[in-house]
Amino acid sequence: MRSASGQSWKWTTLLLVLAALLCFVDRAASVKENDFKKCHQSGFCKRNRAYADNALSQSSTWTSPYQITPESTSFQDGQLQAMVLKKINAEGGTVRLPLTFSFLKSGLARVSMDEERRQNKDIELRHNSPIRKERYNEAEKWSIVGGLDLDKEAQLVHQDNTQIVVKYGPEAKYEAAIKFSPFEVEFKRDGTTHIKLNDRGLLNMEHWRPKVDKPEGEAENGEDESTWWDETFGGNTDSKPRGPESVALDISFLDYEHVYGIPEHTGPMSLKQTRGGDGNFAEPYRMYNSDVFEYILDSPMTLYGSIPFMQAHRKDSSVGVFWLNAAETWVDIVKAKSSVNPLSLSKASTSTHTHWISESGILDVFVFLGPTPQDLTKKYGELTGYTAMPQEGAIGYHQCRWNYVSDDDVKDVDRKMDKHRIPYDVIWLDLEYTDDRKYFTWEPNSFADPVSMGEQLDSHGRKLVVLIDPHIKKQDEYVVSKQIVSKDLAVHNKEDNIYEGWCWPGSSNWVDCFNPKAVEWWGSLFKYDFFKGTLPNTFIWNDMNEPSVFNGPETTMPKDNIHHGGWEHRDVHQLNGLTFHNATYEGMISRTKGERRRPFVLTRSFYAGSQRLGAMWTGDNQADWGHLKESLPMVLNQGIAGFPFAGADVGGFFGNPEKDLLVRWYQAGAFYPFFRAHAHIDARRREPYLLGEPYTGIATAALRLRYSLLPAWYTAFFHANRDGSPIVRPMFWTHPSEEGGFSIDDQLFVGSTGLLAKPVVEQNKDSVDIWIPDDEVYYDYFNYELMKTQKGKSVTVSAPLDRIPLLMRGGHIISRRDIPRRSSTLMRFDDYTLVVSVSKSAVAEGELYVDDGDSFDHEEGQYIYRKFSLSDNVLSSVDAEDRDTKSIKPKTWLKAMQDVSVDRIILVGAPSTWNKEEVQIESEGKTWTVRAQYHPAEKGRAAYVIVGRVGARIGADWSITLA
Ligand code: GLC
Repeated sequence: MRSASGQSWKWTTLLLVLAALLCFVDRAASVKENDFKKCHQSGFCKRNRAYADNALSQSSTWTSPYQITPESTSFQDGQLQAMVLKKINAEGGTVRLPLTFSFLKSGLARVSMDEERRQNKDIELRHNSPIRKERYNEAEKWSIVGGLDLDKEAQLVHQDNTQIVVKYGPEAKYEAAIKFSPFEVEFKRDGTTHIKLNDRGLLNMEHWRPKVDKPEGEAENGEDESTWWDETFGGNTDSKPRGPESVALDISFLDYEHVYGIPEHTGPMSLKQTRGGDGNFAEPYRMYNSDVFEYILDSPMTLYGSIPFMQAHRKDSSVGVFWLNAAETWVDIVKAKSSVNPLSLSKASTSTHTHWISESGILDVFVFLGPTPQDLTKKYGELTGYTAMPQEGAIGYHQCRWNYVSDDDVKDVDRKMDKHRIPYDVIWLDLEYTDDRKYFTWEPNSFADPVSMGEQLDSHGRKLVVLIDPHIKKQDEYVVSKQIVSKDLAVHNKEDNIYEGWCWPGSSNWVDCFNPKAVEWWGSLFKYDFFKGTLPNTFIWNDMNEPSVFNGPETTMPKDNIHHGGWEHRDVHQLNGLTFHNATYEGMISRTKGERRRPFVLTRSFYAGSQRLGAMWTGDNQADWGHLKESLPMVLNQGIAGFPFAGADVGGFFGNPEKDLLVRWYQAGAFYPFFRAHAHIDARRREPYLLGEPYTGIATAALRLRYSLLPAWYTAFFHANRDGSPIVRPMFWTHPSEEGGFSIDDQLFVGSTGLLAKPVVEQNKDSVDIWIPDDEVYYDYFNYELMKTQKGKSVTVSAPLDRIPLLMRGGHIISRRDIPRRSSTLMRFDDYTLVVSVSKSAVAEGELYVDDGDSFDHEEGQYIYRKFSLSDNVLSSVDAEDRDTKSIKPKTWLKAMQDVSVDRIILVGAPSTWNKEEVQIESEGKTWTVRAQYHPAEKGRAAYVIVGRVGARIGADWSITLA
């Protein structure tokens, strides 16, 4: 017995050790890095990198084989047409590549190049493929919404046999010098070259050619053609019916050391070099929207979405490029110091050389010559659209997990949040609310009564978001499945039959939202009478739209699948998520006849233009400090790339956060434009009230801070909607002259409020150093301490677990609502508090934008937009657009706002001349006085005044004389 039990003990121990080991191996391998291609495993990336290596290794002798034939050029109405000839052999064989330069009114230049033979459909497809023969040229249909008007004033100022020079843009201060042989472009602003195309000779458009099968036994001819045709990775073979067709170009930013953008990646916001070396990446940044489960930090690996827009920045100058291509894309970055002339006094500068490589499609590049980051974001938005004005509650707090298990569970969480006085706006249902993972249905036992659930939420202005993914479970009795098949609205496989793959529901089909008929049909599924159990307070979460296909190559769809219009999936992959998001958005605008409401749709996959449709989040992160830290550069970078409505899963998706990590994450989340807690199905429950004190209280304080500042956040969204400004702003964007801030990506300004936050993202920290970009005064947000700051230096801010390092820059006026309530909707007619952070020179400015947060009535003037200013001891409010607001006939919401006033005004940094017991207010033809309380400076704290109750209407002009 003894020995037997001794034996079994040994076995159990062994098994336990083995299990632990397996767990470890599994965890270490969790990244599944090997499931995704490296450049050398992707034929076109490998070929183009080799092309670059070859060109650069013989830089003195290398000549790019692309030339413009001088007689082919013509210039008219802001457009230059030319024929580029690509030399393909020593016998003088060439390929014709029509080139168009469009000089746009906005000051952008667009360079597009196609392949003539493919335009003429003069190629043969292999494997009897039914696909289109042209290069994909429809990305603009999805991405671009404006800004394409030609600059008819653009002038051809010089032409000879070697080049053409065009002047364009405002005051003709931009210039493009287009060299003929080899083809190269130099973009100048005010006479200085900022951007060069093909100056390193890496332009490469792989033209169509018939596949030549090597006669058996013949020796290799030295050229590796193994990846040109059928290409295999991870057991999947891509049939490549058109063979090699990549398009690549080098783009150099002269004297620019920093480049930002091209999300979505982990790693620093100021992008790293990718050709190896100390601290650099060895792989290019990859953009191929994928379900990269348990992603790694500090990596150029692709993630769920991408935006091929890059900003280059140096002191006082920003320029950029937008590479409009919907196929898989890789970007290599190297930075090179220019050689220092020993006689020159100027420092050596660094230039950034980039190499863009896409698998298919036409060459289509937009060049931005700045000069400010603001200018770039605005013009990029003009092109691809601005952030949609959000549903009001969408900028509050979202409580999510995979999964709330029943309608009773949801009601219970809702009640408990109330019991603990924790504000939230939206509760979310993941996958398991559905009946057997069939979207647009409810699990009949656990979600037997979705209507009463929705109604309970609605009774305090809350919303429900439910998950709807693009894969449709294949099942004959499921009406959505029946319709997608009978109407032929799904993506096809390479044989042109409906494609079948594996995802959450098992065998599935994928809705093809490139098809207008599919968009229309998809939209109809959201109607209240189809998606029964949904209410006007139900909104949507679009996940897995890369698309994620569990049994597909790199967890996505085969590239040789076929979409509407005969395009290969290869050509449009990057747009797939956007088209699905778009179809949902379109459906949600109007779920019943005559209705037009702002949708709220969250997406995981995205592309340039997705910002018009809703919010994004950074996917499946982990409950560790590293992921918390990484979320800040990721969210900031989204803002630079024009899609600022972004956030990361608060708490971390995988794993169980320690309590200190979770509360720090709430504090950081309070500064994400999209603020949602989420957790994996295997993670323990972690609603903030479960934490216990002091943690619940600390998380609640972060949430209340967010809620009190919602007017400021909404105004920041409004700016993003008007001019593309990031909602949370990095230092280089707000202070483009301060070089010390160009690499900083862990602190941020909220809109134009002057609120400067640096959430704590490391364990056991009780202070942080905030870098100060200017000579202004800074106050601690919470206790009005006058910070001892110095421009370009850091200031230490105390940050025990219950404190968020948050400063107010002098010179701003911030709008708040100070009564804590359960949801944003319940606060919508509360009075305002204004916090005036007085500048060094006793002035300040601020804005408040507010509308009904739900309809499109704001497009007809149903909004309040105020500009507050402090100068000469007078604080005043005027209409920010100088509108005659009296001429606007108020609808219900605007009418109700007539009873909403400014309640309190807190003036921080008040001079002693404001030490009075009352102040005088003038508004709407009346004058009255209100109480003022002056608190003199003491122990490092600035002097401040509290004025109130003010009683001036928020929509009216008023002024207060302070001294
Ligand atoms: C994906 C999403 C995650 C979600 C899960 C189940 O992993 O990224 O947020 O909870 O799918 O739907």
